[in-house]
Amino acid sequence: MERLEALGRISDDARCLTRTFCSPAMRRANRLAASWMRAAGMAVREDAIGNLIGHYPAAASRRKVLLLGSHLDTVRNAGKFDGPLGVTLAIACVEHLRRNRLRLPFAIEVCGFADEEGVRYQSSYLGSRAVAGLLPDSDLRRKDARGVSMADAIRAFGGQPARLKQARFNASRLLGYVEAHIEQGPVLEEKQLALGIVTAIAGQSRYQFTFTGRAGHAGTTPMRLRRDALCAAAQFILAVEDYAARKAGLVATVGQIQASPNASNVIPGAATLTLDVRHQADAVRRAAGAQFQKLARQIADARRVKAATELVQQTPSVACSKSLSGLLERATKRHQPHIVRLPSGAGHDAAVLARITPAAMLFIRCKGGVSHHPDESVSPQDVRLAFAVLNDFLKLLTDEYGRI
Ligand code: GLV
Ligand code: MN
Ligand code: MN
Repeated sequence: MERLEALGRISDDARCLTRTFCSPAMRRANRLAASWMRAAGMAVREDAIGNLIGHYPAAASRRKVLLLGSHLDTVRNAGKFDGPLGVTLAIACVEHLRRNRLRLPFAIEVCGFADEEGVRYQSSYLGSRAVAGLLPDSDLRRKDARGVSMADAIRAFGGQPARLKQARFNASRLLGYVEAHIEQGPVLEEKQLALGIVTAIAGQSRYQFTFTGRAGHAGTTPMRLRRDALCAAAQFILAVEDYAARKAGLVATVGQIQASPNASNVIPGAATLTLDVRHQADAVRRAAGAQFQKLARQIADARRVKAATELVQQTPSVACSKSLSGLLERATKRHQPHIVRLPSGAGHDAAVLARITPAAMLFIRCKGGVSHHPDESVSPQDVRLAFAVLNDFLKLLTDEYGRI
């Protein structure tokens, strides 16, 4: 809990917790987490994109590796637990092994992924996609709000954009990936249980829409002659909300918007917004995406502005590994009377890792289901329980090793 507080103080913004990909705060966070990894007996490396990876060797020279971890980046004005909880718990597990002079029949690598939230480049999961070999070089040309390309940001951080491919894990060596994470929803709290086993992670699509109209004088241009891009965007945002509200299980969010020239006495000539669309069923998510693009065109046409769409990124829904989740479940049963299995509406690095190795997730109850907000909160008792479950999971995996 102290480590989470310490990471929570490392921010790019003095007023709140914001730690985005390849930022100075990320540099400090990696340094701090690396010191904990070393103290826990791990050899630490930073890969080409800035993921922090601690290696705890196997007994003898076994080559299989179990991955544990989560992400170290945050959203803007974030809570302290989304991401870092999974990293610090993983470090604590390795520390526990080391303290007890234990080596397992497989190595453990603790990953602190450099970007899961996608705040800086809109394109999310940069860290886990790099290790999964799913980050195309074309993403390196994306620009942040200040015009800094991803390649330049990685270089300034000390990474090596030209060697992105070297960050890729050798999937044949992986035993799996296990991520502990706050639930970010209300289910566990409602059931008065600390922990849950994740069954599947919802797919997500992220789009960027740009409406282009014509800037003009706010005092002299009559209303009927305007081609206001921000009004088109506003109408679109409400249409998105309306559509999503009518489709069961669909969530769609416009979280970021920029008007240009963004001056109080100028009619907005352009408006750019992000759209995040999610559903457990990929077909529903894709159909919604197509519908939103159609709506944007219709709204733009009626207002004599132009609409351009970019599908920045999409990740399919993934099922968690039955065998690893089964072991997590057995470990949880030792500490909690009932097992809760639940899907995740939030995205996680596990959704990407699942494309190359079996992946499982342990959810930890959070207060009021609140997340992506500074009020995010978990109890030390629940964290202690999660720690005990992860330790037992490692024991069970050791027993099963060779059979799985
Ligand atoms: C990550 O937190 C996401 O689901 O956007
Ligand atoms: Mn998050
Ligand atoms: Mn997260």
